[in-house]
Amino acid sequence: MRTAKKTIKKVSLIGLGQMGRKMARMYIDAGYEVTLWNRTLEKTREFEDVNITESAQDAIARSPFVIICVYDNSATLDILNNLADQGVLEGKTIVNLTTGGPDEALEIEKIVSAQKGNYINGAIQVAPDQMGKESTTILLSGNKKAYDEHRSTFDILGGNLKFLGEKAAASSAMDLATLTWLYGSYIGLIYGVSLGQKYGLDLEDYSRIIGEITPGFTEFFQYEIDVINRGDYSITQSPLPISIAATQRIADSFKELNVLREFPEAIKNILEQAGEKGLGNEELAAIIKVINKQV
Ligand SMILES: NC(=O)c1ccc[n+]([C@@H]2O[C@H](COP(=O)([O-])OP(=O)(O)OC[C@H]3O[C@@H](n4cnc5c(N)ncnc54)[C@H](OP(=O)(O)O)[C@@H]3O)[C@@H](O)[C@H]2O)c1
Repeated sequence: MRTAKKTIKKVSLIGLGQMGRKMARMYIDAGYEVTLWNRTLEKTREFEDVNITESAQDAIARSPFVIICVYDNSATLDILNNLADQGVLEGKTIVNLTTGGPDEALEIEKIVSAQKGNYINGAIQVAPDQMGKESTTILLSGNKKAYDEHRSTFDILGGNLKFLGEKAAASSAMDLATLTWLYGSYIGLIYGVSLGQKYGLDLEDYSRIIGEITPGFTEFFQYEIDVINRGDYSITQSPLPISIAATQRIADSFKELNVLREFPEAIKNILEQAGEKGLGNEELAAIIKVINKQV
């Protein structure tokens, strides 16, 4: 009679910063055989019952599944380009969770694929303490076969994994897109605080009202993306002229206050151009034509 042999899953982690250390702990707790490499050896000292290697090369050699999470992709490229033998990448699934740009993702994919390795590019959208939760969002893209094969190992990292297809650059591009939205909103949020301070508003009221209107605006934003997807800009929700007037009003009110005016002027200018370029009878989402220089 043959007894089923329980195979211990192996994972190697390259980079033990805040995020790498957190992921190392998660895999140790999940019972994996964990191998670690960090440029500064001292950071490996807090870990017991793991394999510590002296080189990234050895860390890659020890596991089929390798996570790289370092400061930026210049560091990732440094590590991969300085391997003693890049042939070690053959057959390995290399998951790069370092935040970076889409072009960098393609460059790294090229190095890994040239050695017949499987590349998956990722972008973690939460802080280390929020890893491993049901709501933890991680954007991933690249080799789908490797993603499916190692799905249970990915699942340790979080419950809201978004696999965005075979184009390795997609996760970095999506990260940039969501961050663009986030910082635009964030700067708007703080300008709202500035206005509130100047007019003596209760900032707790502001905070509460923002919280209450956000779900409705999220629905509106999703509707507007759908308008662009369909390419039908007939007015159904928000006629562009209303926003031309609103952003003019916002810019005017900041003119009277002694604050940096770049942001309110920028949003006013985009809307104003849309009006000047004849989009006045279209849905607000038509500003994509101005931004993309299609008009
Ligand atoms: N922390 C977060 O909240 C968070 C959230 C989402 C995404 N991320 C992303 O996760 C990645 C890592 O973040 P982190 O917070 O862990 O950063 P961190 O604490 O600053 O750690 C950076 C890591 O990169 C290593 N490193 C830097 N340059 C290197 C090089 N040239 N060669 C080899 N290793 C190098 C460092 O090694 P040494 O120890 O030798 O310096 C260290 O292990 C970043 O891309 C970040 O954007 C972080």
